Amino acid sequence: MCKKPYYITTPIYYPSAKLHIGNTYTTVAADSLARFKRLTGYDVMFLTGTDEHGQKIQRLAEAKGVTPKAYVDEIVAGIKDLWEIMNISYDKFIRTTDDYHVKSVQDIFKKLYDQGDIYKDSYEGWYCTPCESFWTETQAVDGKCPDCGRPVEKAKEEAYFFKMSKYAPKLIEYIENHPEFIQPESRKNEMINNFLKPGLQDLCVSRTSFDWGIPVTFDEKHVVYVWVDALANYITALGYGSSNSDLYNKYWPADVHLVGKDILRFHTIYWPIMLMALGLPLPKQVFGHGWLLVDGGKMSKSKGNVVDPVLLVNHFGADPVRYYLLREIPFGADGLFNNEIFIKKINSDLANDLGNLLSRTCAMVEKYFGGIIPSATAKEAIDDDLIKVALNTPKAAEQCIDNLRIPEALDCIWELIGRANKYIDETTPWILAKDESKKERLGTVLYNLLESLRIVSVCLSAFLPDTSEKINKQLNAEVITWDSLKSFDGTKAGSKVNKGELLFPRIDVDEKIEELNKLKEQQAAANRPKMQPLKEEITIDDFEKIDLRIAKVLACEPVKGAKKLLKLKVDLGGEERQVVSGIAKFYKPEELVGKNVILVANLKPVKLRGELSQGMILAASTDDDSKLLTATIESELPTGSIVR
Ligand code: ME8
Repeated sequence: MCKKPYYITTPIYYPSAKLHIGNTYTTVAADSLARFKRLTGYDVMFLTGTDEHGQKIQRLAEAKGVTPKAYVDEIVAGIKDLWEIMNISYDKFIRTTDDYHVKSVQDIFKKLYDQGDIYKDSYEGWYCTPCESFWTETQAVDGKCPDCGRPVEKAKEEAYFFKMSKYAPKLIEYIENHPEFIQPESRKNEMINNFLKPGLQDLCVSRTSFDWGIPVTFDEKHVVYVWVDALANYITALGYGSSNSDLYNKYWPADVHLVGKDILRFHTIYWPIMLMALGLPLPKQVFGHGWLLVDGGKMSKSKGNVVDPVLLVNHFGADPVRYYLLREIPFGADGLFNNEIFIKKINSDLANDLGNLLSRTCAMVEKYFGGIIPSATAKEAIDDDLIKVALNTPKAAEQCIDNLRIPEALDCIWELIGRANKYIDETTPWILAKDESKKERLGTVLYNLLESLRIVSVCLSAFLPDTSEKINKQLNAEVITWDSLKSFDGTKAGSKVNKGELLFPRIDVDEKIEELNKLKEQQAAANRPKMQPLKEEITIDDFEKIDLRIAKVLACEPVKGAKKLLKLKVDLGGEERQVVSGIAKFYKPEELVGKNVILVANLKPVKLRGELSQGMILAASTDDDSKLLTATIESELPTGSIVR
């Protein structure tokens, strides 16, 4: 029989830094859905990848002194390692630097231009470099990016625009007629009321101020700007626009794009409009999940509260991390990651409920039957409820997954685990074991427990794949198909259990937290930049030789032909001077005008790239020169004042 296709995607990640537990969340959730669909008979395509172009990457690479491609190659390798240790079963990993993607994006851009959906104009707005987003005056409140809160910069340049507004009415109609398209439901209203109804602005889709991007074929100083490049990945990965579009024909439209709520807007407005313009069907569903928060709010590098998934997996294994993310975070809403709750959950749900059920059951089979699985020949009415719950669990879990309710699917599985534990208390096998005439009944009780565990294990394989494999090994379970869960007899009597190690040894909460905290401190200390050794001691007389003055920047412009240099005209009180400074990478000329800087005023003048430099302005920088700040003074003092 031909299997039904199922296409699920994660966002493609920016390879700008190591991924944290928040990014990992999206992918673990998508992985559990992909695995569940494979288990239940679908032909799954699970896509993930990396979004590698843009100014931010270019700047990071420059600061490191490597090419952008070399820079992303290294980070992408780390991302792939992370997916391996998290057991992510993706079918395809797309990189936006892949040739086929580049070619297809160029063709898409040209087609949209030729048909009049893309036009050339110039753009002026507030630009947030880390988010690669332009914002309007009203959006960029207090000069800050509304998404990440970092300062935005004024930017103007020639650019191509996508006529989003043209398609807005059609999109509103589509969303209204397809209530399942944007999930959860609450986010749908946000998209319509906050973005679509107030009027869509046309989207800037090319840039000229950097070149790390896909070149526009018919206007080479432009590169395709982030969202057209990034969003197209969902179809280029399937071969759309290439000579072989079999995968595209089979899997498109996607069943679900899983994304964080911050990028839902791009996926439910810009992406559908792009598809409409290309005459392609829209994805069936876009699901926006919430934020993973840590104590103290949203994770961010600057707050220093980023949770490293690799560290967690090294300490606890992948499945406990997956379990916490999938069960504890309400899917669609924000949720908290907290070490103490995490460890307590491992102890209660994984070690106590599941681990003990398996080890007690296998231990009893060993003790009372020499490890040989007995048959269920002495049924009693008390078994009925357990069997009913066990047979219902797969269906109930499947229903939850069909509605993308991942934590609830795990609730169903834990209901069966709880029911089986209760069944042990109800049937008291250790008392049955004392009476030889009850041997058959004892065998039946143990069979029922083994069979319940088999059902648990098959269902769990989508969420905790390592654990499921370990359980199967201990149970010696051979039949692990979804179909085998329709009846309560998949466990083979006569085969032998392999009682192994505890699935989840209990963890001492306080001890472990102390260990983790120490490790975090050590990591932070190792990451802290080492202070450069101090220079040779000087006397006050030596210092007095340096004439430092307050100078006001009157004008500033780039030095022609020198990417790193700015030429500043400064007022020193009695005179005006020209100073050349290697700070172009860190400041736009207009940012410095009006600032008071500190000038080494008696430095012998030199010529730099043919420009006279009469002095030097003071600045602080990191050792690798990735960050630099000029020393500025907010001062009432007159320019020319001595600094000492
Ligand atoms: O947005 N909790 O990439 P990205 C939960 N390249 N999810 C989080 C999170 C947190 N604390 N922090 C980030 C991009 N995420 C674009 C996507 S798709 C065509 C282009 C999620 O690396 C975030 O919401 O910044 C997003 O879904 C994903 O991590 C990747 O973010």
